[in-house]
Amino acid sequence: MLVFTTVAALRCYLRSCQLGVDRIEQAVGLVPTMGALHAGHLTLLERARQQNSIVIVSIFVNPLQFGPSEDFQKYPRQLEPDRQLCEKAGVDVIFVPTPEEMGMNNGGVFTASVALTQVVPPESMTSVLCGRSRRGHFQGVATIVTKLLNLVQPTRAYFGQKDAQQLAIIRRLVADLNLPVEIVACPIVRESSGLALSSRNQYLRAQEKEEASVLYRSLRQAERAFLAGERSSAELIALVKLELAKVPSIELEYVESVDPTTLIPLDKIEEVALLALAARLGSTRLIDNILLRNRQPIVAIDGPAGAGKSTVARQVAQALGLLYLDTGAMYRAVTWLVLQSDIPIEDELSIAEIVCKCEIILRMSDETLAPVRVWINSQEVTQAIRSLEVTSQVSALAAQLSVRQELVKQQQLWGEKGGIVVEGRDIGTHVFPDAELKIFLTASVQERAKRRQQELKNQGEANLSLEQMQQNLVLRDWKDTNRDIAPLQKAPDSIEILTDGLTIAEVTDRIVSLYREKVEQG
Ligand code: PAJ
Repeated sequence: MLVFTTVAALRCYLRSCQLGVDRIEQAVGLVPTMGALHAGHLTLLERARQQNSIVIVSIFVNPLQFGPSEDFQKYPRQLEPDRQLCEKAGVDVIFVPTPEEMGMNNGGVFTASVALTQVVPPESMTSVLCGRSRRGHFQGVATIVTKLLNLVQPTRAYFGQKDAQQLAIIRRLVADLNLPVEIVACPIVRESSGLALSSRNQYLRAQEKEEASVLYRSLRQAERAFLAGERSSAELIALVKLELAKVPSIELEYVESVDPTTLIPLDKIEEVALLALAARLGSTRLIDNILLRNRQPIVAIDGPAGAGKSTVARQVAQALGLLYLDTGAMYRAVTWLVLQSDIPIEDELSIAEIVCKCEIILRMSDETLAPVRVWINSQEVTQAIRSLEVTSQVSALAAQLSVRQELVKQQQLWGEKGGIVVEGRDIGTHVFPDAELKIFLTASVQERAKRRQQELKNQGEANLSLEQMQQNLVLRDWKDTNRDIAPLQKAPDSIEILTDGLTIAEVTDRIVSLYREKVEQG
């Protein structure tokens, strides 16, 4: 692991590894932090490690985002323990600049006192929630994050849902300034008491930590009411306040219900709301939040090639009355559209144009075991997308980054309503990280080779030896795990099912009962 303190050294390193083995561009993951790393930060590092060839962590206590009376001086700085944690997490580079190195050469604290070009997010997003009491804070965050993104130019950057307002502002900044980076949001990591991990928890005494757990309890009260049908923000906020009042040492700063993307306050919650609060406990300021989502559950099934995912996913969807979001059919539909339009398959730019404008609709067929019905731009293509021509071109198209990004976006739009079963390689980790049920379906290489051989035999195709088939699968697994676009990943909160010796019906039953147990009965 390397540690850089200067921009020049970091740039030099990045240039040296721009093109890795096989001259393929390497994916770079950036995790911006202020150090004093804890298990919350570690989940961001782990996620970045899973998804990228190079992982860079920045540790910088950013003076711009602290107010004059805030804890800039006191903020914990502990480079050696942080270094060891990063090393253990497999980080490649830590970037630890000084304020001077980041252009804050008068050493001033607080945005207003530093002579520096700054990034100003929309007022509507910075004047609500924490913005009310922390004037200039989000401008300081936006400025440093933009600087880091420009310096590192990562493929992906990782942020925690813990700082939901920060996350929304960064997403907006990336969209508004057209920054070429994917923002990956990671769920909140909590102590067993429910208290969200934070570097500032170090300021709390044992007794205070216990008292602070009421923050999450109060949000959970509101969530329970929401799940029972309460849709009025005022009612939900009242429930939070009622619970908080049980711990007199907690001084509430705000509790608000807002749209998680725009941060606009909501009176009534239609689809989704961010219920966020800040409170003081002595001199320590703590924040927490919960997403209230009025949607049907999502079942995410990942696993290696040949584990039987698509057949199982379709049958699970049928058994539970959900939609099988057949992502393979979506890629096929787009391939069909491209073939129709006479655009050469390698013309990524023109393909990106038509894919961004296309509308795909999927619907379960009325007949059991029949494929999902597919429409693209209002034309039904259920049969057409199974042609040999589409089959022979679909992988080339799926390998194009812009196609993948657009289709993931469309899949996530489906996900807003929920009620879907989706399978793939990174559904539970990347596409739907908050799926209610995550399954990792796998089988030994021997078993998968046997199944594949049988499949080919049934299709009357040339027969490879079992050994050869196994070698192909090992190679395919390696490629799938190491690819930069959509690498195969097992989500830490997924349930692994080894399907050796099980029939499709048995695997389906297993998933259906897990759904009944974990999702329907909570
Ligand atoms: P910091 O507070 O160090 O947090 C770094 C990242 O870790 C943020 O994206 C934050 O949301 C995430 N994080 C913190 N606690 C978490 C928890 N309990 N669960 C999940 N994620 C958690 O946030 C900042 O630094 C700064 O504002 C920064 C973005 C680095 C800009 O200076």
